[in-house]
Amino acid sequence: MENLTEFLDLGKQPIANGFLTKDQLKDNEYFYELKVGFNQETKLVSIINQVDPPLMFNDSYPYNTSMSTTMIKHFEDIATKIKNIKSNPKVLEIGSNSGEFIKHFDKSLSLAVEPCGNFAKVTENLGIKTYNRFWTHDLAKEIFQNHGKYDFIYAANCICHIPDLIDTFKGVKDLLNNEGIFIFEDPSLARVILNGSFCQWYDEHPHMFSIIAIKNLLKEAGLKLFGVETLNVHGGSNRILAIKDSEIVSESESVNRNIWFETEIMKLDQIQTYYDFADKVKKSKKDLVNILNIQKSKGKIISYGATAKSTTIFNYCNINSELIDFITDTTIDKQNKFSPGQHIPVVSPDINWDEVETIFLGAWNFKDFILNKEKEHFKNKTVITHVPYVRIV
Ligand code: TMP
Repeated sequence: MENLTEFLDLGKQPIANGFLTKDQLKDNEYFYELKVGFNQETKLVSIINQVDPPLMFNDSYPYNTSMSTTMIKHFEDIATKIKNIKSNPKVLEIGSNSGEFIKHFDKSLSLAVEPCGNFAKVTENLGIKTYNRFWTHDLAKEIFQNHGKYDFIYAANCICHIPDLIDTFKGVKDLLNNEGIFIFEDPSLARVILNGSFCQWYDEHPHMFSIIAIKNLLKEAGLKLFGVETLNVHGGSNRILAIKDSEIVSESESVNRNIWFETEIMKLDQIQTYYDFADKVKKSKKDLVNILNIQKSKGKIISYGATAKSTTIFNYCNINSELIDFITDTTIDKQNKFSPGQHIPVVSPDINWDEVETIFLGAWNFKDFILNKEKEHFKNKTVITHVPYVRIV
């Protein structure tokens, strides 16, 4: 990526969701240098050496939205909101995963775009026309020829995965009806900085969005930011609402409030903010390794949730199975595999909990849900998180 001033070096990292079978441990694993930079002109924060998308988004992509009750409810709620704005809308979803959002709309008016073949099949089987392709401006032109324009274009945790944002937004603009609304949700850079959650940087997140940068990029592509909603999902996200650039609709108060917060309070438009954050990340690594070493002398340590985020943590902090005995995860496709890079075994949560002394919250973004669900298993154990700083919960 051009024009990026580096501020954070998270070391050699593997494909974050590339969980390995026992046989694959023998193969040469792919690693890249995870360095993060700030574009002083657009204010966008991006990974410097971005990973080629087909290495991450392919027919064995493991992240399944349907595994999370929180996300199922989330998609049902936003689908209801959209139907309240316009009944029987024509909807396109970019990055439809297992179809938890798009399935709420009239199938004959819906379209899904999903590059991961395993998930494209799922929405096809639900009867929703699906393009098993990466989103590009060229694909948008093809869709326009075949299906016309859309009332709503929606994308959740997907736009920040796409390297070329201007091409992406131009494609959206061409496919929106005049009154059409583009809604997308991605992790919030402000929340990453506040949470010290450096683990939000991994191969699948070439960009981390501030509202300041989003406004600049949308404008460059002929779209206008007119609303921002704050969401708690994925450790803190923003829902962005945009329309075709026009003078008629003015920015809502939510846009001005967020820009003011990010500029005046968080100073996300200044490189020094990112240098200060990088110092906090180094401290987080030191503290986490220290606390885990202390706990290790007392007994077994497990990590709860084989998240892409924990791939970044374990590889940056050089934490392997000598420190963390295993990772539990409810996703069947991740079980009986090994974590990317550090090769910690992943097992089902159906373990002998009496043997466990310490639990690290790899899925820290579901902390309250997990603490409530696992009250019995976690009783009398030490639970550790690194968010917003390394501590015992
Ligand atoms: P995410 O942070 O990228 O959404 O991934 C969450 C991972 O954590 C996913 O693989 C499922 C796993 N998980 C559990 O194993 N148990 C749980 O109770 C929850 C909420 C998630």
